Amino acid sequence: MPSLTPRRLAAQLGDWRPTNGDPLYAALADRVRLLILDGRITLGARLPAERQLAQHEDLSRTTVAGAYARLRELGFLQSVRGSGSVARLPDGPGIPEPTATTAGLLEFSKATLTAIPLVADAARDAAAMLPQHLGLAGFDLYGLTELREEIADRYTRRGLPTTVDEVMVTLGAQHAIALVARALVARGDRVLVESPSYPHALEAFQQVGARLVTVPVTTENGWDDEALEQVFPRTAPALAYLMPDFHNPTTRTMPAAQRARVVALAERHGTTIVADETMSDLGFDSDAPPPLGVHGTVITIGSVGKSVWGGIRLGWIRAERSTITRLALARTSNDLGNPTLEQLMLLRLLQQYDRVLDSRREQLRAGHALLTGLLRERFPTWRVPEVAGGLTLWVNIGAPLASQLALAARTHGVLIGAGPRFGLDGAFERYLRLPFCYPEPDTRAAIDGLERAWHDIAAHEPSRPVDELLDTVV
Ligand SMILES: Cc1ncc(COP(=O)(O)O)c(C=O)c1O
Repeated sequence: MPSLTPRRLAAQLGDWRPTNGDPLYAALADRVRLLILDGRITLGARLPAERQLAQHEDLSRTTVAGAYARLRELGFLQSVRGSGSVARLPDGPGIPEPTATTAGLLEFSKATLTAIPLVADAARDAAAMLPQHLGLAGFDLYGLTELREEIADRYTRRGLPTTVDEVMVTLGAQHAIALVARALVARGDRVLVESPSYPHALEAFQQVGARLVTVPVTTENGWDDEALEQVFPRTAPALAYLMPDFHNPTTRTMPAAQRARVVALAERHGTTIVADETMSDLGFDSDAPPPLGVHGTVITIGSVGKSVWGGIRLGWIRAERSTITRLALARTSNDLGNPTLEQLMLLRLLQQYDRVLDSRREQLRAGHALLTGLLRERFPTWRVPEVAGGLTLWVNIGAPLASQLALAARTHGVLIGAGPRFGLDGAFERYLRLPFCYPEPDTRAAIDGLERAWHDIAAHEPSRPVDELLDTVV
């Protein structure tokens, strides 16, 4: 069972002290509740003993005891004999509904999209092709040859010559990230990640015992060149996980010259670069930039989870042949391969991928115009970045209130992604990640709820507990 030291919990808590006259114990309980809900405190983690936390945070023991008692009452803590207080979720449905609303809460924290209409056609085509495959196992470790050919040809057309044996189909990009982490990272290895970054990738690397080192990425300036120049020689990371295109969550794209510099730096210091190019195809007007791999040896991860539909649980890894073999060997302890029917669907979709992307881009352009307009009108003090694609806006709300706002938004029925979910140790309290990929009525309703929550905070109104569920942030 993982234990949180008082120092580690304090880092996650950030600036939690209330400015609105709320009792300290209630504000502390609220912040811990949010950390559990959005996955920053993992379920089953042991919280520090009351006395230790009180000492570290310079609080009375009664305050911490009061906060823990409230969390127990709400179902977020459980006292386990001999183990202290352990994070949990309240009883009741623990898995979000597969709809835009979750138990009455409007989902605005994830960047998931409904399917483009061509998916249903592709499913029918795949069903028609299936009989030719029924005499086989129905699943495979590397992927169907025709599909890998299609993926390889697309890389070749984009300027990165690729052969079939340099491609492995996976069960989505998340699976690919976790597989790479398991196969290529040893406990204690340093892994370079961007800050902020995609939380489930951070989890995958942490789970295999990596020590994370960071390089800042901002909406204004992108990747910090100086930090990159320093971090490679100083930390000699075994692996660097980067999102060069429409980086999640800042939506920045790395300029060509910087790409070449980063790949050269990694090569010089013996670091394997893993480029997560899940977002590459989401430019509003332009084709994806050439893959990072054109600059040198890179393991590339791709997926159609965003461009087509997350319901097609398939992605891929492009890497040197020897790396693909290594990944395949590491794969079987966790899963036995890719389902044939879904692969046939993906094949059909990739065969008409330009049409697919046209329809997705139109939707994203409209969603982006709507969200930007609403934010500028309703929250004139917030800093809304200019973006040229992607799915989300990394919005600076001007004050370190993101966690508080996320809790208040829940009381108005809206789930939003607070900045610290995308950082390590409680950073990014001034940021929200807001998606522009939802249908117009949902976006409008979410912004209405967000506006009410913002006014609540401004009016120092205490937020009230509501029923919540564990969320993933995708
Ligand atoms: C940057 C990034 N990589 C990977 C994934 C996971 O992709 P998939 O749905 O293909 O597993 C996501 C999902 O949100 C993502 O944002």
